[in-house]
Amino acid sequence: MEKQIFAQENTLKRDWFSPENPPLNPAIVIITAIERLELERIGRSLRKQYGSYESPEYIDSLHLNAYKILPESIARALMRMGTDFSASQYGAVVFRGLIDVDQEALGPTPSSWQEIDKGKIMEYGFICSLLHGAVPSKPVEYYVQRKGGGLMHAIIPDINMAYSQTGSGSKTELFVHTEDAFLFNAADFLSFLFLRNDEKVPSMLYSIRSHGKPGEAMKPLFEEVFKCPKDANFSQQDATGDAPHASILYGNPEAPFIRFDAAEQIFNEDAGQSPEALEHLQKFWNEAQGLIYDEFIPEAGDLIFVNNHLCAHGRNAFTAGFKQEGDQLVPCERRMMLRMMSKTSLIHIQPVAHPQNPYLVMEEHYGKIYPATISSTL
Ligand SMILES: [Fe+2]
Repeated sequence: MEKQIFAQENTLKRDWFSPENPPLNPAIVIITAIERLELERIGRSLRKQYGSYESPEYIDSLHLNAYKILPESIARALMRMGTDFSASQYGAVVFRGLIDVDQEALGPTPSSWQEIDKGKIMEYGFICSLLHGAVPSKPVEYYVQRKGGGLMHAIIPDINMAYSQTGSGSKTELFVHTEDAFLFNAADFLSFLFLRNDEKVPSMLYSIRSHGKPGEAMKPLFEEVFKCPKDANFSQQDATGDAPHASILYGNPEAPFIRFDAAEQIFNEDAGQSPEALEHLQKFWNEAQGLIYDEFIPEAGDLIFVNNHLCAHGRNAFTAGFKQEGDQLVPCERRMMLRMMSKTSLIHIQPVAHPQNPYLVMEEHYGKIYPATISSTL
């Protein structure tokens, strides 16, 4: 009897150790023309039925819709992301050509995310949310990011923020980071849907799994001795504060998860990092830098789906609104991307969620919650 139970348990066992072949790049799933047409039809019909991907009725029944109507190969690839955290799981998958983007209907790129016409991206919101639903994971919003700002955010280079380490920046490399590394309840999964990338900016991905089995340089990263200021969307004084220390790695010591922001934790001189913590981070960074994957240049219609506990993201520096033609830079529409974030369990985020909105995370900095005075205005 005992033997039988053991055999059953083994069927769920994953490959935790593969030091010889650690994954170095995301899987790329090529979407067929038929699947693309099907997704387009799905987006249109959901819009007709529910009006908005933020309709409570739609979001409540998200998983049902995801499994009923998504093409099976896409749903299966995403379900795997929700259950496989093994040594061979990179933590990101690229869906090449997920949608056709009608560039003319989209019109010129707005000057900032505040000016996006939500009507033009409504169907994309339905498609992205279904992908999260298939994991299964639920789209959420964060007060710390745009005061909530809805379940999907347009990421657009903003001329006034060109040099910032944020999604609105462009002129400097956006160092790899897991999203909201300064929160304990950061997103579990992220999607980045590219509507245009005429500047041909490569995306950067970095997976903790690319190191193989954690070595000596990794061990100190499990200690709760690291600071992480809030990101560059905040003033310096507001960013550092008196937040507690946290670890970089957590979870299974043999196959850990990661919470890390290179710009804020290593290169921000005001981070308040102890000399020992900084030394550990630098040693780790020396190893990690060589494992950053930046060969993928997204095209309009491509989507990158990321497990935010395994894989960090970033991008190269670029000149927004200019593309290379031969040896010349010529004007083009600026890059445009849609980001959605999700949590696999709404139950676990309720201690930090808005009292009347279970999808809105009110965590400000490592467990600290925004005051009730703010919640009451939302
Ligand atoms: Fe990010």
